Amino acid sequence: MGGEKLRLAVLASGSGTNLQAILDAAASPAYPATVALVLSDKLGCGALERATAAGVDTEVVTWEDHGGDRAAFTRTIVEVLDKYDVELIALAGFMRILSADLFEAYPNRVLNTHPSLLPAFRGAHAVEDALAAGVKIAGVTIHVVVPEVDAGPIIAQEAVDVRPGDDTGSLHERIKAVEHDLFPKVIEDWARGRYEVRDGRVNESEGS
Ligand code: GRF
Repeated sequence: MGGEKLRLAVLASGSGTNLQAILDAAASPAYPATVALVLSDKLGCGALERATAAGVDTEVVTWEDHGGDRAAFTRTIVEVLDKYDVELIALAGFMRILSADLFEAYPNRVLNTHPSLLPAFRGAHAVEDALAAGVKIAGVTIHVVVPEVDAGPIIAQEAVDVRPGDDTGSLHERIKAVEHDLFPKVIEDWARGRYEVRDGRVNESEGS
């Protein structure tokens, strides 16, 4: 396919296994997106190391440098994203809530992976909460980010069976394995123009 690749920024705070899956997918010449930037709020985190190893530009914007002012923190992030001419933003384990400034600057252009079948188990402890509730089926949701946390239009979901004896670690590992497939695929389909957000829902076009 010809044409330019979609410029993607990945925001991550942790070990960066989802980032790695995106970097691996983007290494294929046929993949329609390129990782233009990896931004983190955590100096020295695994995600930054993975980005550097892949030769991708990195930026760090810390919460502490902004004195806990969410709007100021978000505005600095928007300035950085603007600088890199980013067209799509993937939150891949980014553990800070961002203010509406991001969604005003990039409406319907921020995607997130969440380790539950939303709207069940929003928040930072989704896997733990699902296990505590005794669910038999957990899963993954990829959604468009809106100001309300873990509440945006759902793009794709996949179920993960809970096994007897699962703990948070073992279940989260299997959930992550699914995220590693699903998130790069959704980004690919997004870059190919297969999704449309309308009236708070994501519609998928048929065909190739
Ligand atoms: C993922 O399960 C993501 O859904 C959640 O945090 C985890 C990040 O893992 N918000 P990693 O840093 O990509 O390994």
